[in-house]
Amino acid sequence: MKAPAINSINTASVNKTLELAGWIDTIRDHGGVMFSDLRNRSGKIQLVFNVSDKDSDYVSAVNALRAEFVVRVRGTILKRPENSINAKLPTGEVEMVVESFDVLNEALPLPFYPGEKVGDETELKYRFLDLKSPLMMRNMEAVDRIMRITREYFSSLGFWDVPTPMLTKSTPEGARDYLVPSRTKPGAFFALPQSPQLFKQVLMASGVERYYQITRCFRDEDLRADRQPEFTQIDMEMSFATSSEIMETVWNLVERIFADFNHKLPKAVFMKFDEAASLYGTDKPDMSLDIGLLSDITEIFRKSEFKVFSSSVESGNKIAAFLCGSDFSRKELDDAVDDAKKLGAGGLVWIKKTGDELKSPVVKLFNDEEKAALRQKFPGDGVIFAGSTKDSFALMGELRKILAQRRGMKKDGFFPMWVVEAPLFEKNAAGRLQAVHHPFTAPIGDIFSDAPASLKSHSYDLVINGEEIGGGSVRIHKAKEQRKVFEIMGISEQEYTEKFGFLLDALSYGCPPHGGFAFGMERLAVKLLGLDSIRDVIAFPKTQNAFCPLTHAPDVVSARQLRELGLKLTDE
Ligand code: AMO
Repeated sequence: MKAPAINSINTASVNKTLELAGWIDTIRDHGGVMFSDLRNRSGKIQLVFNVSDKDSDYVSAVNALRAEFVVRVRGTILKRPENSINAKLPTGEVEMVVESFDVLNEALPLPFYPGEKVGDETELKYRFLDLKSPLMMRNMEAVDRIMRITREYFSSLGFWDVPTPMLTKSTPEGARDYLVPSRTKPGAFFALPQSPQLFKQVLMASGVERYYQITRCFRDEDLRADRQPEFTQIDMEMSFATSSEIMETVWNLVERIFADFNHKLPKAVFMKFDEAASLYGTDKPDMSLDIGLLSDITEIFRKSEFKVFSSSVESGNKIAAFLCGSDFSRKELDDAVDDAKKLGAGGLVWIKKTGDELKSPVVKLFNDEEKAALRQKFPGDGVIFAGSTKDSFALMGELRKILAQRRGMKKDGFFPMWVVEAPLFEKNAAGRLQAVHHPFTAPIGDIFSDAPASLKSHSYDLVINGEEIGGGSVRIHKAKEQRKVFEIMGISEQEYTEKFGFLLDALSYGCPPHGGFAFGMERLAVKLLGLDSIRDVIAFPKTQNAFCPLTHAPDVVSARQLRELGLKLTDE
């Protein structure tokens, strides 16, 4: 007989005899009666062991029970006495009076109780205990649900799941690669894929037309709450589709997933990359923050007597400002100035505004025209923060975020946004042009005749409450254009042929126009479930130092393994 899901047991089950298997959760001795909770992934139910009317074998077996012993119990479901009903538990109106039980396995005394916070290393070393907690069980179930909905969705639209290699060629896409030494070609290395980007494009060249995959990606980058060295992408690519068609296909899946978790998403806002940068100071705007948007006040102070601003403007900087529509104590203002300093702003200026009145230590240095222009720019009351540095908008955008978060100026709910048309290139620290997305993104305009730095791209990122959930683009599908992009980026013909020759070949034999998208599956899950870290939706995550305390990976290998791979370790 199949055991029922524990949480489905209720007053309708009263007087039924059932057999259940699971773990002993807690034990409470009430003298003559022992209470315990039996737990498995389907829920928890109270067990009653009436030791007073049982033989000595039963009694000693009950006394030996400890937390996390694995048991199979047989007993009768009874209604609990009125005064012991637990309204918090789905099975809280009933209990099982245990007639007999088998201990299937014992457990050592626990280093911590599932779900208890005892520090990273210990929690991950005993991850099997942590995963038993109801929260982690719920999270794993949610990930399974997301993947199932995704598979059903893409399959119903005729997308094929085509697995792509895990052992592939090193073609760094921004992060460092994880390398795997080859035994059959000593001195050569595979790389683990950072994403299936190039393979999915080759599949389009092959005529697959619609591809999707839920796949692991590997990036050796500094870890944060939203980054792990290995993570899962929901990856897709479509031939003959426009960016709007791709966004719509992606969006319908997002809506479907959120709906399955009982969340109705508002329609996504579309915003061009440049507009997001000037209103939010970032390409990942958080529309849930209830604080004024950034404004450009450069022109107001270009010729000002107030040298902090006019000198900065003269050296080519802009002045970014925003209104925080609430009152600040002196201490809070000082803290904001400190925050701005930490972010790298030389001078942060604050001005308290009430009606037409402007108050601040610097206001006496503004002339009437400047004051009138400020009043007009910021009609509301509150505190105007203004700053000017090399990257005023990014910095003030960051400050805006810090203040809103600190002061709880946050609206509930999900605020999705498509950030579209990012510039094709940006200048890196060495002054060379590099791709803002990746070098396979199609330009809007003519790559051969337009000024490269002025080109925008057919790109689109999906941002929910300030977090990039996924990104994609329409791709370059002609070899000649792709070569030109590499050249603009200063990559020599020899280098791009070595690294991307196979892609250029694929584009040269009848490749259709195509584009696609990839979600960070864990980031999507974290948003959906209202969690803080993607580690909570990864069964076996790594620590901040990319270490797995459970398995002790990465670990040393034997001298024989190194010899076989033709590798020698040095002290350098
Ligand atoms: P991109 O590099 O933007 O695009 O990655 C897509 C999405 O993957 C997630 N992501 C991560 N999640 C967890 N840990 C990480 N270290 C990590 N890095 C990225 C993010 C991100 O939005 N091939 C392109 C997609 C395309 O153009 O189709 C790509 O990989 O949510």
